[in-house]
Amino acid sequence: MNRLTVNLSKPMGTIHRNLYGHFSEHLGRCIYGGIYVGPDSPIPNQNGMRTDVVQALKHIAIPVLRWPGGCFADEYHWMDGIGPKSARKRMVNTHWGGVVEDNSFGTHEFMELCRQLGCEPYINANLGSGTVQEMSQWVEYLTFDGVSPMADKRAQNGRMEPWRVKYWGVGNENWGCGGNMRPEFYADQYRRYQTYCRNYGENRLYKIACGANSFDYDWTDKVLQIAGRYMDAITLHYYTVPGSWQHKGSATAFTREEYYRTLEKALQMEPLLDNHIRIMDMRDPQGRIGLIVDEWGAWYDVEPDTNPGFLYQQNTMRDALVAAATLNIFNQHCRRVVMANLAQTVNVLQSVILTEGDQMVLTPTYHVFDLYKAHQDAALLESHVQAPMVGQDGAQVPALHVSASQKAGGRVHLTLANLSDQQSYAIHCNLTGQAVSGRLLHGAPQAHNTFDAPDTVRPQPLDGVCMDGHGLRFEIPPCAVAAIEIEAAHEAL
Ligand code: AHR
Repeated sequence: MNRLTVNLSKPMGTIHRNLYGHFSEHLGRCIYGGIYVGPDSPIPNQNGMRTDVVQALKHIAIPVLRWPGGCFADEYHWMDGIGPKSARKRMVNTHWGGVVEDNSFGTHEFMELCRQLGCEPYINANLGSGTVQEMSQWVEYLTFDGVSPMADKRAQNGRMEPWRVKYWGVGNENWGCGGNMRPEFYADQYRRYQTYCRNYGENRLYKIACGANSFDYDWTDKVLQIAGRYMDAITLHYYTVPGSWQHKGSATAFTREEYYRTLEKALQMEPLLDNHIRIMDMRDPQGRIGLIVDEWGAWYDVEPDTNPGFLYQQNTMRDALVAAATLNIFNQHCRRVVMANLAQTVNVLQSVILTEGDQMVLTPTYHVFDLYKAHQDAALLESHVQAPMVGQDGAQVPALHVSASQKAGGRVHLTLANLSDQQSYAIHCNLTGQAVSGRLLHGAPQAHNTFDAPDTVRPQPLDGVCMDGHGLRFEIPPCAVAAIEIEAAHEAL
């Protein structure tokens, strides 16, 4: 019996709904084909947005969407993507496959997408190759209510009222594809660009500085030291790559050792957050600045016979566990982590949705977001589960991984992942009350959904949940994610 303990008397902060955010770039078939098909497409759509994809994303309560990149953001000139579509510039997408970008999805289309999804827009603006004026004018175009050149232009393009845009990224990966800058140089550029990103009327910008690549603590430290007072948040990017960047490994054909190595690398998110947060605590002891992990997820070799620049990969139960453990870690770090954005929503990297023509498949990762959505805006509870180490050769991970939260109405939500590929575990949790629902996602590590078999991996009821005066008992099978909701919970004596 493995003991799972939840401390009801120790709420540890609020799990911001934006920890369940997503990221969509002009990359491969993410925007074009995956989300946007245009109003004249035979694929069912509303104003060009795929109806099936919008419905699916609404079902998992997508809270925030980051756009237009990624590396694409620092080459994106927003004025190319407004006005009559026939007059919009056609350009080459240099980062991603060298394909033609016709700019048919631009600012108005993105804001329409967010309207349909009911989510917050997060716009990542161009610091790497754009001008200060260009960035400043984008804010004005979107949010200024009154007479101004940009507000007039917006009206000419069919939108009288300003939009409300809160989340504003000032550059992306400026240590790499966003200009290969040193932290001191970026920090000064950040100070300059953000000066001209104005708050118009009621709209209040939440300014986000480009943060570190994975373990680059020096970047976080220097950017905070030089520019911390001008930002609301700083970012962090971390990808789980099982092999090297040249040979990352297959998304579906992997060994037991690769399985555990992937999970071991995914769990690096925890020390990574701890270390960046330690620096933030030193530079910002009041805790004013948020940490945003606006790119995360598993990154494998592309599927055979697909464009290497499109980053299209399948998604298995291994990815479901990467997502489950990572989201548990985000929940547990909600004191500082205020947003996270999985890379990327549709057809790119660890996507929640795959499409092919008019067909759509929900990935195992999608189902994890579904099982976890009850954590959004809930109070984090202290939790712990006894977990033996499991693994193969040098790659070792704790078998069980948990987080727990409580909604304002009182319901407790537990999410538990079993990372072992062979061993099931009997769990005894100290909570009593009434188990309202128990759901389970499980399968072999390589199990995945295809267009021919879209429901191979999908949530099932969690059988055998037993609640009495001594607590809650259930069994979790190998390679599984369980979500349990408990009403009127209290701790067993
Ligand atoms: O998500 C794919 C790419 O990964 C993004 O464009 C970039 O920011 C990161 O390097």
